[in-house]
Amino acid sequence: MTVRERRKGSLDKEGLFGSGKRGRRRNGGWYNCCVFGGVSGLCILALLLTFNLLLVLATFIWSSDIDSYLQNWGRPGSGTEGLAWYPTDFTRDVLPIPCHSHNDYWRRVPLFSALRAGCISVESDVWLFDNELYVGHNTASLQRNRTFQSLYVNPLVQILEQQNPRTDFYNGTDHGVFDVDSGQTVTLLIDVKTGGAETWPWVLKQLEPLRERGWLSFMQDGEVHIRPVTVVGTGNTPFDILTANSTYRDAFFDAPLETMWEPRRGAPGTTDWPSGSSSDPLDSSSDSDSEENPTSPSDTQDLGQGLSGTTPDSQFTPLNSYYASVSFGQSVGRIWRGRLNPKQIRIIRGQIRGAHRRGLKVRYWDLPAWPLGMRNHVWDVLIREGVDILNVDDLRGVSKIAW
Ligand SMILES: *[C@@H]1O[C@H](CO)[C@@H](O)[C@H](O)[C@H]1NC(C)=O
Ligand SMILES: *[C@@H]1O[C@H](CO)[C@@H](O)[C@H](O)[C@H]1NC(C)=O
Ligand SMILES: *[C@@H]1O[C@H](CO)[C@@H](O)[C@H](O)[C@H]1NC(C)=O
Repeated sequence: MTVRERRKGSLDKEGLFGSGKRGRRRNGGWYNCCVFGGVSGLCILALLLTFNLLLVLATFIWSSDIDSYLQNWGRPGSGTEGLAWYPTDFTRDVLPIPCHSHNDYWRRVPLFSALRAGCISVESDVWLFDNELYVGHNTASLQRNRTFQSLYVNPLVQILEQQNPRTDFYNGTDHGVFDVDSGQTVTLLIDVKTGGAETWPWVLKQLEPLRERGWLSFMQDGEVHIRPVTVVGTGNTPFDILTANSTYRDAFFDAPLETMWEPRRGAPGTTDWPSGSSSDPLDSSSDSDSEENPTSPSDTQDLGQGLSGTTPDSQFTPLNSYYASVSFGQSVGRIWRGRLNPKQIRIIRGQIRGAHRRGLKVRYWDLPAWPLGMRNHVWDVLIREGVDILNVDDLRGVSKIAW
């Protein structure tokens, strides 16, 4: 046996020996790997669970943020009493969204809750008693100190005074409520609950603090000038009295959307509309028109939204109206199986078309609020079809949808 061969043999042995040792080490590695993997897997699981729990806690804390802010509203020591309760940067992170705060006075902090959510439109139901305008849903909810002036006019004056400080750099008055978009007007929708002819002059009178500071949108000599606050009258607001002065007005009408349905342009006649349907808005409007024909404006007082003080010949234009509204339930009808059917979509499209051709903003009130899935579907469809403002009760819900 040569040296080389011997060396080769020992190499073989070493090889065998070495490979055996490596094999055992590999087995031990697998064992360690399994134990370590199991332990670290459990650790990762535990970490994930903890993280999840923290996230849940965090959303809980974050989502009640607005509430906690509003809870201490006006309390001494909370920094929100007096004028300090409205710091100039209050709306700093508020994005204006096209929503209308329905029954706004029901909120714990009227007006402010809506502005905080970014709503550009708020509703105030006013009742005239003893030469004062009280705000509430019905007479049972009225209180002496909850007046139109104390809940809406004065706070708006205060907000706008904060937003329009007199400094060496700025002497203007045209900065709106929202910091993000200072040109955005806030619509104050005033739902007149008591007799329109008696109540409306009081509404105009109580708006004086806003008017004298130049903060009301107005129409003068056939031209509309938009200012930080746009007043729109609904309910028993009398169209004839509102438009009596043909050269100047600083309040606008909530026109009847129901009567504005139009077929698609280019569509032959009204074939866009399924003939013979009972809820055809054109039929119903012509019915009510023929009933109204022999009546004078004074007989059409206090008929409710879009009708008070109107005649069949009334023309609704941006010079006298701002919104065109209708009750969703009455006009579009009940929703079956959670989805709007093609006929209902055609009603909505036709009404939006008619209102937009007149230059008015479309608002449906009385939207379904429940179930939430259906409500969100309706919101989606309305936004997609071009409705200008969403009537909402759930401010938080509407500020969470992706606009
Ligand atoms: C408003 O009136 C109610 C009932 O009369 C009373 O409880 C409340 O303290 C009053 N609030 C203010 C701020 O005066
Ligand atoms: C604003 O008014 C003040 C006082 O009247 C004046 O001193 C200042 O120059 C004005 N600033 C601007 C930008 O006009
Ligand atoms: C209309 O209102 C303006 C501004 O208030 C007033 O000057 C004018 O006299 C009014 N016109 C009529 C016909 O009442």
